[in-house]
Amino acid sequence: MASGAKPRLDPETAYEVISPESYAAWDPLLDTFDRLREEAPVAWVEDPESRHPPFWLVTRYDDVMRISKDNATFLNNPQTVVFSLTEGIEFAKNLTGGSPHMVASLVTFDAPIHMKYRKLTQEWFMPKNLRRLEDEIRALAVKTVERLIEAGGTADFCKLVSQPYPLHVVMQILGVPEEDEPRMLMLTQQMFGGQDEDLNQSGMKDLPPEAITQLVAGAVKDFEAYFAGLTAEKRANPTDDVASTIANATVDGEPLNDRDMMGYYIIVAAAGHDTTSASTAGAMLALARDPEQWARVREDRTLLPGIVEEAIRWTSPVQHFMRTAAEDTEVGGQPIAKGDWLMINYVAANHDPAQFDNPRTFDASRSPNRHLAFGAGAHQCLGLHLARLEMRILFEVLLDRIVTVELAGEPKRAKSTFVGGLKTLPLRITPA
Ligand code: HEM
Repeated sequence: MASGAKPRLDPETAYEVISPESYAAWDPLLDTFDRLREEAPVAWVEDPESRHPPFWLVTRYDDVMRISKDNATFLNNPQTVVFSLTEGIEFAKNLTGGSPHMVASLVTFDAPIHMKYRKLTQEWFMPKNLRRLEDEIRALAVKTVERLIEAGGTADFCKLVSQPYPLHVVMQILGVPEEDEPRMLMLTQQMFGGQDEDLNQSGMKDLPPEAITQLVAGAVKDFEAYFAGLTAEKRANPTDDVASTIANATVDGEPLNDRDMMGYYIIVAAAGHDTTSASTAGAMLALARDPEQWARVREDRTLLPGIVEEAIRWTSPVQHFMRTAAEDTEVGGQPIAKGDWLMINYVAANHDPAQFDNPRTFDASRSPNRHLAFGAGAHQCLGLHLARLEMRILFEVLLDRIVTVELAGEPKRAKSTFVGGLKTLPLRITPA
């Protein structure tokens, strides 16, 4: 690290903390976060390739928590994620007539508009409402686990279970028919996995930033075309699903405009599944590595909520969000100027030893487990109860139907700075 007024990261470390490959490699990145928490917990990052504007990287749990909860000082606008490459921002401005966001959604709104939009669907995602969906979700879990068992002894858990299952659930909630799900999967993977050649459907390694931007823009356009049709249908024949709520919602007495409505569908469709896929695969990886724990939880299901919560912390599927300082302020003693951009890194915060003993160990008995994987404050994950419920139900079915599980090859992580996690998890299973 170079000395000076600002604790600037050296170019090598700066490159590491913003490169998708580091998030695929994982452990070396966790080493770097350990070092930064000690040496420069609020560090100035200048991208050596100038793809992003510079920003403050925040790695300590307490600081990430404080920023997340202070939504007046730390705004979601104008840019919410770091893969919003400079080209992407310009591209979005041209595309939208001035907005830096390709998609306008809950995560790109600040007060006062944010709460007005959030309230439209908030009730939907509360435990009371979700309870009535349990049977439907269980039926999807059973179908999914049956497919895994039919595949024979060895299979990729990501492909057969952790990717399709949360997608089915969120599409059911949204009211998207089953035959359209493959298209939704492809689009969300292009949007969130644009940096990984296996997920962005290009089949090309090391796509240049402009190509990734084009890919994401193409996915957004296709989403919009799809949801325009769904809106017309849900206005004509409203049903008991989130898409009908969004299609018929009003804010300040006015129906949502097309862009805001599309953004709402997209955030629910996209945020609702890749994230839960990652924590589900992570839970299975931890259990596959620890056959005794699998056997124990088969006998005692009260252990399951601890496993689910720890998997969400341990994987931290949403790896960061960005905030912008609304005024001159400080974080952890570091002066921050009005307009400065900050990365709240959930992976780093959730591996802070000041908050979690042995943070790299998967410890299902961790209590309390006040992780930040769902964020905190006004933007805290709207789908957190659904994510937990989906995981619990799936593992209940898996534990009923599978006696033993072990790794059948090397799992691989996706290359992504934003939503990340396993993209393959080869398993050998013994059905009951
Ligand atoms: C393990 C799974 C999940 C993780 C780790 C996760 C994580 C997150 C995080 C970190 C945020 C931003 C929080 C902040 O800025 O403070 C967020 C926001 C959000 N999540 Fe999730 N999420 C998950 C599952 C879901 C599901 C299943 C849904 C819905 C179907 C969902 C919908 C949303 C929405 C709509 C927002 C925006 C909320 C707002 O800005 O007000 N998420 N999520």
